Amino acid sequence: TVCPNPAAGAVAVAKRIASLIKSKQANGEKAVLGLATGVTPIAVYTELIRLHKDEGLSFKNVITFNLDEYYPMRPDAPQSYVRFMNENLFDHIDIDRANIHIPDGTLPEDKIAGFCINYEKQIEDLGGLDLQILGIGRTGHIGFNEPGSAPNSGTRLVTLDDLTRTDAARDFGGKGAVPTKAITMGVGTIFKAREIILMAWSKKKATIIKKAVEGELSGEVPATYLQLSDNVEFILDEPAASEL
Ligand code: GLP
Repeated sequence: TVCPNPAAGAVAVAKRIASLIKSKQANGEKAVLGLATGVTPIAVYTELIRLHKDEGLSFKNVITFNLDEYYPMRPDAPQSYVRFMNENLFDHIDIDRANIHIPDGTLPEDKIAGFCINYEKQIEDLGGLDLQILGIGRTGHIGFNEPGSAPNSGTRLVTLDDLTRTDAARDFGGKGAVPTKAITMGVGTIFKAREIILMAWSKKKATIIKKAVEGELSGEVPATYLQLSDNVEFILDEPAASEL
């Protein structure tokens, strides 16, 4: 779907999330959402906050799992995805804190594997993700599944690509301060979601969007794996779609 501008795309995605939450509410069920960080989804979160404040959308039945977190990362650090999610969404809605899950950047290294297995199990025990939203990095990563990620990969500790660290340098005040690792849901974890929405705005994403949508299926561009799913929708603005 190509939208006239990012705001229109973000409002459309927020509406889809709201209607999922409401239909689950009507049946007395939980909505299990996979959430993303980065600049791309911010307007979606802003619209969800507006729907909460102005239209009474409740998040009491919502359970969230975030895609990823830098490793190591303290939750109160300016670049932490915990902080990002609190500031951009969770602090402004009525979600139960116990229902929020974000990979833990403070774990000692020998506890990470167990944490990741448990992250997968928690999602599975809830019946899987109803909806996963995604941005895309210039390496073609989804979450932090960098080139070389396997299609059936699960939640795990990964090494960040050099280009990803270059792109993150601004947030960290220089590339040297960007962590070399992250904990991310796997491609396989994302794939199990019943619905996947990948958003991309701006010309900066046009080349990687072309590769992801029209390029040869390849582990070198993990987002190409999405071509294998029937449950994926790309929501783009015109500049991001301009090379398709
Ligand atoms: C980071 C995140 C990804 C995100 C990507 C793009 O690498 N881990 O989940 O999709 O950045 O970020 P932005 O939306 O800021 O372009």
